[in-house]
Amino acid sequence: MKSDLERIILDTIDIPSLPTVAMKALELINDDGASINELEKIISQDQSFSARLLRIANSPYYGMNRRIDTISSGVMLIGFNTMKSLVVAASLKDMHRKFGLFEQKLWEHSLGVSVASSLIAKVTKMVQPEEALVAGLIHDVGKTILNNSLPDKYTLVSQKVYEEGAFFKDVEAEFLGYTHCDVGGLIARKWKLPKNLEIVIEYHHTESLPVFEDSAFEALCQIVSVADAICLSLSIGLKGPDNVKVPYNVLGLSESGYNKFLELFKANYAEQKAKLTE
Ligand SMILES: [Fe+2]
Ligand SMILES: [Fe+2]
Repeated sequence: MKSDLERIILDTIDIPSLPTVAMKALELINDDGASINELEKIISQDQSFSARLLRIANSPYYGMNRRIDTISSGVMLIGFNTMKSLVVAASLKDMHRKFGLFEQKLWEHSLGVSVASSLIAKVTKMVQPEEALVAGLIHDVGKTILNNSLPDKYTLVSQKVYEEGAFFKDVEAEFLGYTHCDVGGLIARKWKLPKNLEIVIEYHHTESLPVFEDSAFEALCQIVSVADAICLSLSIGLKGPDNVKVPYNVLGLSESGYNKFLELFKANYAEQKAKLTE
């Protein structure tokens, strides 16, 4: 079943390429004999990429108590696996073939989900905030890929989403026969992303989750999906249906606790957006 779907996807879309620097970095990380110095050399060749990567690593919501000033100290602190996720997160903006209004909104949505996810992780202590931050940034990578690969069709998808107040996944299934989650999961496996991120990318819209080998995967998925609903309900970035319900009770929050959380989130999002777009 799965492989049929994968074949259909691979027949209709291009395998996206990451920016060269990110591809080289991922190749090196996936190679067992990789050294930190080699990785630093590759990433430092692209000044703006390495600056963006360090900016994400030093975001106050990343959970680090120490400043990461260099790629090598970053790898020592967070490990190769997390560095892999950071490399992909830092590439997202460059992956868009054009950067118009839709791409801007998708970027704002991803940033919003990322800030909300890491704050939820901090408040609930369900997972590490840095894991949640990166998961939020890349959860909708399937939309970026679809938008690059099938620009005309995807414009129709987003038009219908906006006109009818529908969900992207439903309109995608209707127009394409698969969703950004299917595409994202496939690409996550191709890029050999860490398993927790592959699961978030593939299952963040699935209501009853399958049983995963690690229960932390389920917690991360729930956090990102609540963060996604929060951003849709506040119209941060991409718009969704008008009356999106935020299932904050899965986080163990009361209504007043949730309202307080929203104020904290709105202030943090504005601050983070100003920093990342400067
Ligand atoms: Fe999504
Ligand atoms: Fe999303």
